[in-house]
Amino acid sequence: MLCGWVAKRRDHGGLVFCDLRDRYGLTQIVFDPALAGGAAAHETAGRLRSEFVIWCKGKVRHRPEGMTNTKLATGEIEVACTELVILSEAKTPPFAIDDEAEVAESVRLKYRYLDLRRPSLQRNLLIRHRMLSIVRNHLDQNHFVEVETPILYKSTPEGARDFIVPSRINPGSFYALPQSPQTLKQLLMISGMDRYYQIARCFRDEDLRADRQPEFSQIDIEQSFLDEEAFFPILESMMAKLWKEILGVELKTPFPRMPYSEAMSRFGSDKPDVRFGLELNDLSDVFAKSGFQVFSNALAANSRGRRGSVRAIVVPGEAEKFSRKDLDDLTAHAATFGAKGLLWIKIQPGGPEGGVVMQSPAAKFFTEEEKSALTARLKLAPGHLVLIIADPKDKVVYDALGAIRLSVGARLGLIPKHGEGAPAFLWVMNFPLLEFDDKENRYYACHHPFTSPRPEFFEDFIHGRDLDRIEASAYDLVLNGVEVGGGSLRIYRPDVQAAMFKLLGLTPEEAKAKFGFFLEALQYGTPPHGGLAFGVDRLAALLCGVGPIRDVMAFPKTQKGTDLMAETPSAVTPEQLAELGIALARPQANRENAGS
Ligand code: AMO
Ligand code: AMP
Repeated sequence: MLCGWVAKRRDHGGLVFCDLRDRYGLTQIVFDPALAGGAAAHETAGRLRSEFVIWCKGKVRHRPEGMTNTKLATGEIEVACTELVILSEAKTPPFAIDDEAEVAESVRLKYRYLDLRRPSLQRNLLIRHRMLSIVRNHLDQNHFVEVETPILYKSTPEGARDFIVPSRINPGSFYALPQSPQTLKQLLMISGMDRYYQIARCFRDEDLRADRQPEFSQIDIEQSFLDEEAFFPILESMMAKLWKEILGVELKTPFPRMPYSEAMSRFGSDKPDVRFGLELNDLSDVFAKSGFQVFSNALAANSRGRRGSVRAIVVPGEAEKFSRKDLDDLTAHAATFGAKGLLWIKIQPGGPEGGVVMQSPAAKFFTEEEKSALTARLKLAPGHLVLIIADPKDKVVYDALGAIRLSVGARLGLIPKHGEGAPAFLWVMNFPLLEFDDKENRYYACHHPFTSPRPEFFEDFIHGRDLDRIEASAYDLVLNGVEVGGGSLRIYRPDVQAAMFKLLGLTPEEAKAKFGFFLEALQYGTPPHGGLAFGVDRLAALLCGVGPIRDVMAFPKTQKGTDLMAETPSAVTPEQLAELGIALARPQANRENAGS
């Protein structure tokens, strides 16, 4: 007996064939009027259309010689049907339910329930399910307790805007949806819960990208009396189980670790894809006395005594593959990261024996000394392409050149596809604690304001010395260039936490209003603690080998934060607004969608 959907029906005169689709795959059903009891079923089969839901009964038999389908798991058998019931009929779907059909994403999302019938999306949801069940087992075996924390709550600072929810019972007051359960899991440590985890839903109102959704899930973990050297193996063995049990891949543990400063200087990224080269080179010393204004501007000290840099990547032997248009496109790409230009140099043979000639818009600005220093530093040879970015802000150079590295790597086919090569897990460590915002003239916490400085920087932190240099006890887990998790050891002293809030520009009143409950809790005996959160959606996407995380989410939102199926967000009735004590400054755009 089988139940499922009609994927395909073929009428071969006397015989009718139907591919039945269910969660487990496709099965061929044969309706043969000559079978004992098969005549009625055969007649009903004449009415079958795509996506009808049926129940059928019959005998499993080998397919006849030469009719087997080796591409199908059930390709050697078929079911000779003797009883058929149409459980429900279906309108003609707006698109064919298969993985090959080219269908606009907006149509797929409007009919997400049909889209989810596709084998690839079914597979993704099943992999995600297995992933979470392995995670739950693993954390349970390691004595972590799953505790649920509220969704209607108070702002937690993770660097995005909050979604807020008005309270009817307390007019004029609002809940914030948690950007993560950060304060709550720390409170659970103060509660003596010792080892906590949660598959937690997080909400962040930020600009969306392929790997960012406004609501997403974390494997959120926290532990008291944490020792990094004992904590990392718990997480690494969890990853090893996932890759072994889901993909059959043996991971090498422990994972390598790299300081943040090295990740930036070699790859221009705090989530480096270390599976290919094209590493960054610092040329600031080569051009220290440059007469080229772009370089000298970048290297002059700014009002805070900071200098920018001049950095390059070298693409060996591929210069001729890059046309003027390609280089213009790369320049435009660099500009989206704030770079004011991208200087290219093509290396050609010429000059004295074994020498090279530099073809570049800026070649005339380089002295002979600079050219030979550059040639020696970058080991330049004919055919090489050099791409240089200079900026008074080091961060702009890193961001832009790091992105150029990825884009050139992709173009040259250097980035392995899903299933090719070993997964490159990497811990990035020793992040800076604080980041100075020039526009707002204040510091921000690089991770979040509960992250502790590394012990050797404690004194400097308390006394507000050398703040740009202070490193945090923070770590990210990176896989193939994707940040899959991040965490830290936390501040557990109330005075240090108060100092942090002050440094971030919160007045004592603001700190009390936002985090008073937390500062108070810290005073009642707080164990040293720390933890981390993995992005469930990103991990699932990597296990499934898909790019955008919406492919591993049942009901994702569009880039504009909407759900096309339910048409949400939508307007509300004037009565609902009145009840909440809310008056709108602008009329509602889609009033006709107002709920009742
Ligand atoms: P963080 O903000 O680094 O840390 O988030 C942890 C992980 O969550 C994933 N992630 C996202 N996934 C999808 N869409 C998003 N918009 C999104 N934002 C983040 C990433 C990221 O590595 N409370 C801390 C954790 C801690 O310190 O323990 C936190 O939330 O994979
Ligand atoms: P210009 O003198 O502005 O014509 O620039 C000469 C070359 O330097 C052009 O190829 C620009 O793309 C490049 N350039 C300009 N600004 C930068 C920068 N900040 N970093 C690297 N190259 C740049």
